[in-house]
Amino acid sequence: MKTQIMNLGECRVKSPLLKIFPLKESFFVTDKLRIKYNCYVDHELHDNRHNIQSFEAAGPREKIFFNPENTCAAIVTCGGLSPGLNNVIRSIVMESHYRYGVKKILGVRYGYSGLNPDNNYGFMELTPQAVREIHLDGGTILGSSRGGTEDMEPLVENMKKTGINILYAIGGDGTMRGARKIAEIIKKRGYEIAVVGVPKTIDNDISYIQRTFGFESAVSRAVDAIYSAHVEAEGAPNGVGFVKLMGRHSGFIAANTALAMNDVNFLLVPELPFDLYGNNGFLYHLEQRLKRRHHAVICVAEGAGQELMAGESRVEHDASGNVILEDIGHYLKDKIIEYFAEKKMNINLKYIDPSYMIRSTPANSNDSIFCAMLGQFAVHAGMAGKTDLIIGIWNNVYTHVPIELVISERKQIDPNSRFWYNVLAATGQPVDMKNT
Ligand code: F6P
Repeated sequence: MKTQIMNLGECRVKSPLLKIFPLKESFFVTDKLRIKYNCYVDHELHDNRHNIQSFEAAGPREKIFFNPENTCAAIVTCGGLSPGLNNVIRSIVMESHYRYGVKKILGVRYGYSGLNPDNNYGFMELTPQAVREIHLDGGTILGSSRGGTEDMEPLVENMKKTGINILYAIGGDGTMRGARKIAEIIKKRGYEIAVVGVPKTIDNDISYIQRTFGFESAVSRAVDAIYSAHVEAEGAPNGVGFVKLMGRHSGFIAANTALAMNDVNFLLVPELPFDLYGNNGFLYHLEQRLKRRHHAVICVAEGAGQELMAGESRVEHDASGNVILEDIGHYLKDKIIEYFAEKKMNINLKYIDPSYMIRSTPANSNDSIFCAMLGQFAVHAGMAGKTDLIIGIWNNVYTHVPIELVISERKQIDPNSRFWYNVLAATGQPVDMKNT
């Protein structure tokens, strides 16, 4: 596991924070401070090598790389929307402006495509006045988009020409793959431009980062859908409340929503393939549940059960390079209706797809606090000339993680984890729904 963070060069400038914040010892951190990857210490274990792995601590450095007076920062938001984007933008602007004295902050329009000079989108001037109230709204004032990462050389040249010293890239794995390409080109050219990522995605699927912003707010909106599904299910004979939630390759939104509500009886996620038919198939278990309790709530993550629909072509990708998924919601709904019709068993199925509603919402209080912190830590890292990294959180401590590491794998639910055990306990569903 490579956790080494790149620096643009030696930090020679005294941090302006030294004047603002006198609590030196507890406030400033050095590059030597590390956060352990594994927080357990097992005294029985003779080989404790895994304990040595660690991340660099995020936080303000006493000496920084960029002189704030001549620094120009830029912020870009990419990929699908997520609650908290505006909060992070605001935090970066406020921290840069008031704490470090950086007066030039540019907003890039519509993701990486806004850095491409051919698109002529221009930049947005981001001042404290311009961002004063944006954290109250969902979405991003900059606009976002997928893609724009095929040829990034012109984007880097445009950054150089505009005089940008630090690029804050807010996004998920696709954004980070783009940020890494930019950082590599910058390195090759020898430019002094820092690239700092901030982890956004409602899917919470970024590896080596405990939590991404937007996830918690999305879950808190998704619980409304489960609540409604449960009310509908209980309100009719053999009522089936069926909710489809986002979650392309990782079922964290669906799983956390189920844990929060305790009303879901069947949770279907991409990480655990299931059979539809047979004595251990999903439909059989649903039938037993209805016979026993006369109502059921099902929650499916959009990436679940893709293997059931195989045969239909799945070669299409979106602009971020993600495979365009088959619609498991409508597929399963039809299969459930068909199955019970054949059994001549009357059911009342209500299908709810809150879809984009869960991610266009403003950040909830906890996410708002998290976003403000992420924004501040991003600025500390950027001003210190750290590059090709993303701000993380691990064991509740803020960290610096190389982008290369986070894009090396995807975070998914581990079916052998305590987390999944808790989900099974909350839903009461069979441990697996496969016939073999
Ligand atoms: O990546 C986050 C996410 O919310 C996924 O769960 C979902 O598949 C995707 O975005 C949908 O986004 P869009 O429709 O904008 O491509």
